Amino acid sequence: MVAFNLSARRRRACRTGPRPPVRWHSGRSVTLKYLLFLPPALVALAAPAAPVFEDTMAQRVLACSACHGKEGRAGPDGYYPRIAGKPAGYLYHQLLNFRDGRRHYGLMARLLDPLSDQYLREIARHFAALDLPYPAPRPAAVAPAVLQRGEVLARQGDAAARLPPCTQCHGERLTGVAPNTPGLLGLPRDYLNAQLGAWRAGERRAHAPDCMAQIARRLPAPDVTAVTAWLAAQPVPADARPAATLPRPPSIACGSAVPPPGGPRP
Ligand code: HEC
Ligand code: HEC
Repeated sequence: MVAFNLSARRRRACRTGPRPPVRWHSGRSVTLKYLLFLPPALVALAAPAAPVFEDTMAQRVLACSACHGKEGRAGPDGYYPRIAGKPAGYLYHQLLNFRDGRRHYGLMARLLDPLSDQYLREIARHFAALDLPYPAPRPAAVAPAVLQRGEVLARQGDAAARLPPCTQCHGERLTGVAPNTPGLLGLPRDYLNAQLGAWRAGERRAHAPDCMAQIARRLPAPDVTAVTAWLAAQPVPADARPAATLPRPPSIACGSAVPPPGGPRP
């Protein structure tokens, strides 16, 4: 059975943008174009019989690599983020966030819409377990003083602006903290800028209390430029795995992050 039931709104939305292959739950392989104009009951009949479908995780995530690159290593530009090797809880929260409307990307949300929490957790674990090399960073195209300011923000913060350092939550090495906080290295600058911009504008949200929304709003535009330029220019350490826990509770509570043992629950 094909597990799709597209609403009229979604059918309309389907007509924009590329249409990656969809291979969920079903013994068949269908593409979104078959789903556009047909009522759901006919969709199952209209889908062409495909060779026997192996229900492996590798098959299930084929649709993801159409945008996120081979094995989730990122698309060729800064737009499609890497998902390989990010902490499992973080990836799972993002899948929920897209599915449930706290982040917005229609084409992806539609793929996730019919999937259960359990299924999303399995997909998150699959990508989190991939330990793949990162490309070398691109040299920064900003003045040395800007890079210096970026490093200060990342490692020391700015007490006057009530801005904690990024390392306080993303780990001393900035490779993230298991299971829910992502690393900040190995990401293109465009992606980092887009995420901070989306938080400031309220277009990206995390589980409340949403610490990143507060942080993004405390960062004036020149500081966003500085910190993303510095982060994107850093090499990813050979051991890119997230830290096991935070040494001390962060100064701003994050609904999506696990506090360190003994720390207050946000
Ligand atoms: C049509 C292209 C497309 C497809 C197909 C797609 N994604 Fe995405 N995905 C994106 C884009 C674009 C973003 C970044 C959106 C943004 O900037 O908020 C994204 C973001 C994500 C993120 C958040 C990454 C982060 O670091 O916060 C995760 C996790 C993710 N996708 C997983 C998946 C999985 C799993 C699949 C397959 C079920 C998938 N995506 C299929 C385009 C796609
Ligand atoms: C108080 C804790 C905390 C501090 C301090 C913090 N972050 Fe975060 N950050 C988080 C958490 C938690 C998430 C995951 C949010 C989610 O689940 O969507 C996150 C996510 C992010 C992401 C999204 C990454 C991705 O792959 O999409 C970016 C970008 C980011 N932070 C940048 C920064 C920068 C830059 C700083 C320093 C100026 C910083 N953060 C400081 C807790 C923090």
